[in-house]
Amino acid sequence: MSKSYRLAILGATGAVGTELLELLEQRNFPLADLKLLASERSAGKTLKFRGENIPVESVSDRAFDHLDIVLASAGGSTSKTWAATAVAKGAVVIDNSSAFRMHPEVPLVVPEVNPLAAVSHKGIIANPNCTTILMAVAVWPLHQVKPVKRIVAATYQSASGAGAKAMAEVKTQASAILQGQPPVAEVLPYPLAFNLFPHNSPLNDSGYCEEEMKMVNETRKIFGSQEIRITATCVRVPVLRAHSEAINLEFETPFSPDEAREILNHSPGVKLVEDWGSNHFPMPIEASGRDEVLVGRIRQDISHPCGLELWLCGDQIRKGAALNAVQIAELLVEKNLLKPTAAYAPS
Ligand code: A2P
Repeated sequence: MSKSYRLAILGATGAVGTELLELLEQRNFPLADLKLLASERSAGKTLKFRGENIPVESVSDRAFDHLDIVLASAGGSTSKTWAATAVAKGAVVIDNSSAFRMHPEVPLVVPEVNPLAAVSHKGIIANPNCTTILMAVAVWPLHQVKPVKRIVAATYQSASGAGAKAMAEVKTQASAILQGQPPVAEVLPYPLAFNLFPHNSPLNDSGYCEEEMKMVNETRKIFGSQEIRITATCVRVPVLRAHSEAINLEFETPFSPDEAREILNHSPGVKLVEDWGSNHFPMPIEASGRDEVLVGRIRQDISHPCGLELWLCGDQIRKGAALNAVQIAELLVEKNLLKPTAAYAPS
């Protein structure tokens, strides 16, 4: 009989948590036990899984007893509070927050890109930032054939990146505006309906926001290359779900669009969407709910002989968060990597 595993979702009631639940069911993850954890606000609620109502428990020390895997998606401070406890009790934590991503002892894994990084985990594996995952899935296969020197990214990020409440706020704002009323912004800093604004994460002294720096630093860590020059401009747009990115790549040598297309057509996690005749390329509404990163509009950068332009859309709740985490869990199970190489010691 094949083995099955005891798994908990920390943050089970959230946008990513509910997607995790759906994916575990859809992908038939081998479960011996499933525990749903959230804040005390959610204690007593139930969530449906494989036709059963599973109670949500308030997170506590005891909740991490007898677990193999914890999928954490309850924010950085909750992960910082509980990850070490879960690891000390024998579980591997796959953490969706930014708490441990840049920690030198914590692998940052996109299974299509650097699955081997998971081998050396010490109890925690970090799931990268959503925008970064989508870009990494599309750029890595090209980088394998001809090294990329520089990446210039512009992102068009949906409301869902800021949570379910932000999505609801955009709808309320849109309906207010259509009725001639002023839009009210409470979750996001400014009205997003019929508007857009630079990403609202904190700015550093160079004028870059945190989201942009995540794309820079996390991509380098995932690709295992500190040499790649990366710059990004992240923008929040009034799309409900799925992020879009315009990516300019500069290679060492020329990379023909046809060659790139051929490579991406056979790359894991990528779906080419290009109908030049009808001007049909990836769109967030077509990427929503899908596993693959949709890539298209691959063209020569007319300003640089070694430059390539591409456009992508991906569901950031799915591949950008929940799916990537479940794929890491599947990787650990398939390759028998649940046992850490050494205990994690938070510094
Ligand atoms: P709860 O629903 O009980 O607040 P989202 O990213 O969609 O806002 O979801 C965040 C998830 O993290 C929710 O499941 C939320 O639970 C959970 N969460 C937030 N704060 C805590 C906390 N301090 N302890 C445990 N879970 C938390």
